[in-house]
Amino acid sequence: MRKPRLLTSRLHFFEANNYSNSMSVHIAAKPGEIAETILLPGDPLRAKFIAETFLENARRYNEVRSMFGYTGTYKGKPVSVQGTGMGIPSISIYVNELFRDYGVKRAIRIGTAGSIRESLKIRDLVIALSACTDSGANNIRFGGRNYAPTASFSLVKQAWDSAVSRGWKPAVGPVVSSDMFYTEDPEEWKLWANFGCLCVEMETAELYTLAAKYGREALSLLTISDSLISHEITSAEERQTAFTRMMEVALETAIS
Ligand code: HPA
Repeated sequence: MRKPRLLTSRLHFFEANNYSNSMSVHIAAKPGEIAETILLPGDPLRAKFIAETFLENARRYNEVRSMFGYTGTYKGKPVSVQGTGMGIPSISIYVNELFRDYGVKRAIRIGTAGSIRESLKIRDLVIALSACTDSGANNIRFGGRNYAPTASFSLVKQAWDSAVSRGWKPAVGPVVSSDMFYTEDPEEWKLWANFGCLCVEMETAELYTLAAKYGREALSLLTISDSLISHEITSAEERQTAFTRMMEVALETAIS
C-alpha cells in the first residue's frame, strides 16, 4: 500500500498545492514580470484602477487571493502596482516577496491615513519621513529594542519636488503605523500627536523596515481620509481628487 503523504514541510505543502513553479508563495509572477519600481496601494481593486487608468499596456501578473498585481509603463518606463492588503502582517508578506524574490528596488506606498493634527485637513497630502509603531512586528524582530523605520531620502526629495512643482505643499514628518483600527482607548492618538506625529495608518513602519533590511528604497505617500480630532471623513468626490493628486506625485517619483 502506498504510504500517505504527510504535508510536514513547506515544500510538500507547495508541491501539493501546485505552487512548485512559482518564485514566491503569495505572488505568482514569473521572473522579470515585476518592474524594479512598484506602487503599493492597500486595496487590490485600487491596483486594478491604477493600472487601467494611469499605466500603458498593463498586464496582470498576480491573482493569488485576489491580491492583484500589474506591470505596465508610465511615460515609457516600466512600473508595477501591487495590492498589499491592510495592516502590517499583510504588507509584510507582499513586500518581503517583492524585495526578496523579485528584486524590486523602489517601493512607494500610496495610502490613506487619519489626521491627528489640527493643521492637517481632510485631503491633505503627507510624505511619511518616518513611522512610529505600536506593532508587534518590530518587537519580535528586534527583541524589544526600538528600531526607527525611515523613508528613503532621495524618494522623499523627489516626491517633495514633484508636489511643489505642481503648487502643492505636502506635510512632511513622522506618522504612526498602528496594528489597531478600532482602538480600546479612543484618545490613544494624543500621545503620538504630542510627540510630533502627523497621522495614523497601518503599514508604513513595516515597509520602511523591510526596505532597510533588503537595502532598497521605500516611501509612503498618504492622503488624509479622516480626522481622529474632528471625526470628519472624506466624501467620495474629495477622495477621488486627493487620490489623483497623490497618484501624480507617486508616478513622477516612481520614474524619477
Ligand atoms: N486609523 C488607522 N488607519 C487609517 C485611518 C485611521 O483613522 N484612516 C485611514 N487609515
